[in-house]
Amino acid sequence: MEKISRTKIVDLLKREDFGATVNVKGWVRTRRGSKQVNFIALNDGSTINNVQVVVDLASFSEDLLKDVTTGACVSINGILTESVGSGQKAEIQASDIELLGACDNTYPLQKKGHTLEFLREIAHLRPRTNTFGAVFRIRHNMAMAIHTYFHQKGFFYFHTPIITASDCEGAGQMFQVTTKNLYDLKKDETGSIIYDDDFFGKQASLTVSGQLEGELAATALGAIYTFGPTFRAENSNTPRHLAEFWMIEPEVAFNDITDNMDLAEDFIKYCVRWALDNCSDDIKFLNDMFDKGLIERLQSVLKESFVRLPYTEGINILEAAVANGRKFEFPVYWGVDLASEHERYLVEEHFKRPVILTDYPKEIKAFYMKQNEDGKTVRAMDVLFPKIGEIIGGSERESDYDKLAKRIEELQIPSKDMWWYLDTRKFGTCPHAGFGLGFERLLLFVTGMANIRDVIPFPRTPRNADF
Ligand code: 4AD
Ligand code: MG
Repeated sequence: MEKISRTKIVDLLKREDFGATVNVKGWVRTRRGSKQVNFIALNDGSTINNVQVVVDLASFSEDLLKDVTTGACVSINGILTESVGSGQKAEIQASDIELLGACDNTYPLQKKGHTLEFLREIAHLRPRTNTFGAVFRIRHNMAMAIHTYFHQKGFFYFHTPIITASDCEGAGQMFQVTTKNLYDLKKDETGSIIYDDDFFGKQASLTVSGQLEGELAATALGAIYTFGPTFRAENSNTPRHLAEFWMIEPEVAFNDITDNMDLAEDFIKYCVRWALDNCSDDIKFLNDMFDKGLIERLQSVLKESFVRLPYTEGINILEAAVANGRKFEFPVYWGVDLASEHERYLVEEHFKRPVILTDYPKEIKAFYMKQNEDGKTVRAMDVLFPKIGEIIGGSERESDYDKLAKRIEELQIPSKDMWWYLDTRKFGTCPHAGFGLGFERLLLFVTGMANIRDVIPFPRTPRNADF
């Protein structure tokens, strides 16, 4: 076959130089037609849209065409022509077809209309579907939006370690990293495992958050963000939790809690706007297929300013709702760690727009948050979103050495692990604040998908690490 440089379908469908000779390569979605002419719908992943290839059967051998089945990979040379019936402006009149890879009839994606649950079982093939093609193109676009946003604002992308010896959130949900022989663990007199002879000479884990190291950088470079994988061994089998997820954590010197809220709101709106501007074909597809309210919800988030409300007032609203007969699965009282049903009540039913809840009880938040004068609450902020619940968690940080050291002691966090963190408060401490956005929670919102397993290529959840 004559070598012609390949055009991606996304570019080809925009071309109007009809009559040109072109080459496309991709995977056959469908082939249909009559005895004289066949139509191949070809997709190469560059866009949700297929290009229609018209095949005059008289010019091709039956032997070749019998292998051009759904899922097969082909390279096609042909003439770009104006299309009348394909739903696109351009189509291709095939002059040469090369079979790059045949696809036999055991290919599980031949029929349309598979459930998302079934597609999770074939996660190695699901990127070939329209739905997952759309989701993963949007995922890429959101990553670009995030880097662009922070770069333009003068933040530095800072790489924090994935292997760590400290527990940032103090929730004890860490996966251990070891080269020890698990069948022959040496223990001391008290029964504790000896780690001296382990790879790092101490107990090590996969990080739950890059924040603590991010703070070291923010108090030197001024404004940084991290964007990397984080790991939580929490045994929660929900549509919103993963054991391995990606988090974006900006951290800014001299920001207080209000600056932090302003940044979170501006940042998330920028990402949503980027999706509407750059992923319109994919979002329209997901809107039509899965979630008829998606585009409207994305647009409405851009229009409204987020509600900002202390936790205590949020509890008052929830208690009033309960008094009026609203039923929740979990109880509501001051001090409770809100369940996602509570968060969604505030957002979807009470305020009908995103809510930033602040000043949570210190008992349910991490040790590093700035303590309020009342002695009971900390300067935390959670951004709550429709359909998602918590999408961002953050705070102004405790910058006072004594208060922070006291809190670390109260919570019995081993200070031998924290000396380097405390040093930032000893040497030129400064007010600072930051937050973490769960990348997959953002993607749930932007794609309208209902299960977090469907917005990451290879989800890791309890009892599932396939592919
Ligand atoms: O609220 P979290 O636990 O906060 C932190 O880790 C802070 N160190 C962030 C900071 O201040 N720099 O987690 C932040 C966000 C949550 O709001 C949620 O969006 C997401 O991370 N998240 C998860 N996403 C998927 N699966 C899980 N298991 C998640 N746990 C948290
Ligand atoms: Mg949180």
